[in-house]
Amino acid sequence: MKTTLSVIKADIGSIAGHIRPSQALVESVKDCIESELGKLITDYYIGNTGDDVAILFAHQHGEGCQELHQLAWNAFICGTEKAKEQGLYGAGQDLLADAFSGNVKGLGPAVAEMEIEERKAEPFLLFTADKTDPGAYNLPLYLSFADPMHCSGLLLSSKIKQGFKFVILDVEHTEEDRMIELYTPEDTYDIAALLRDNQRFVVQAIYSRATGAQATAASTTRLHNIAGTYTGKDDPVLMVRCQGDFPATGEILSPYSIGHYVAGFMRGSHTGPLMPAKMGCSISYFDGPPVVSAVGFCVHNGKLTEPVDCFDHPYWDHVRDKVSQKSVYMREQGFSGPAMLHYSELEYGGIVDILKKLEDRFSC
Ligand code: F6R
Ligand code: MG
Ligand code: MG
Repeated sequence: MKTTLSVIKADIGSIAGHIRPSQALVESVKDCIESELGKLITDYYIGNTGDDVAILFAHQHGEGCQELHQLAWNAFICGTEKAKEQGLYGAGQDLLADAFSGNVKGLGPAVAEMEIEERKAEPFLLFTADKTDPGAYNLPLYLSFADPMHCSGLLLSSKIKQGFKFVILDVEHTEEDRMIELYTPEDTYDIAALLRDNQRFVVQAIYSRATGAQATAASTTRLHNIAGTYTGKDDPVLMVRCQGDFPATGEILSPYSIGHYVAGFMRGSHTGPLMPAKMGCSISYFDGPPVVSAVGFCVHNGKLTEPVDCFDHPYWDHVRDKVSQKSVYMREQGFSGPAMLHYSELEYGGIVDILKKLEDRFSC
């Protein structure tokens, strides 16, 4: 049976700054979706990571379904009304258009979709990250799909050993989608050469070479490419199918034990380590650290199982302690060097204004 998994996420308002949405906001989004259960959609899940609300839909209508996107847009409008009513911070902040126009892609919310032929058992993971951007998934995806140090299946399974096709997008090319298809194992170093640049190149999708089946789908939009100026960090979502012809669940989770440094953190303008966090986590230290949650499901005949929190295990407490320590190491140097992002990636124009103002005071 064919099922489409669509995850659509937006920041539409939160409590106490960019911390987390209110329960009432999440409920109002849910109420809006619930009415379509058994009609447009076969199932859904709603969760928050930091200040972002993600809606996962299971349905039968393929990618880019207008009615489905309209439903998500309407639900975010309902949530925004609740956010305004409660006086939440940043109400409706990611809804960059005044009205829906066919597809939420390009209107602010992050979108990742894949139509799959359900296997007998269809396990998959939903990753949602806050205070970072789509390039945050580059390293984990590379390590899970192309490096036997994390994916032992590359040595142990003949199907996985055949490798994967990486579809990589150049997100700086804003006029149209500019992408490249590269293949492991033969293009592995070329893939690494692109993926080291998290701000420019992002993994849009990965496919099994053994079967051609799609393994991952990620959101790739950069809000500043839509709005022309920064309007918030892009806080990306990602779905990864696991087991069988794909890496095992644990191989997909393994790279998150690194706590690698990503762009985001305070005011979307710093570098911080990515912390694997529990479902529904809030944001704290220096408006961060950047967090990612991993929610596991099986989908069967379009129905989702209950969600399982993949980072809610004692092992990850040790990782979280390490990531806290890495946050402090970077924060100790404040604004200096790699602690703060390049001008082009800052969420604010303040530094550029300072440089302009000082221009006349330079002399040769
Ligand atoms: C991401 C996030 C931050 C803010 C940034 C700007 O979820 O919340 O990247 O977008 O801190 O915040 P304001 O708009 O309050 O200046
Ligand atoms: Mg935010
Ligand atoms: Mg956010």
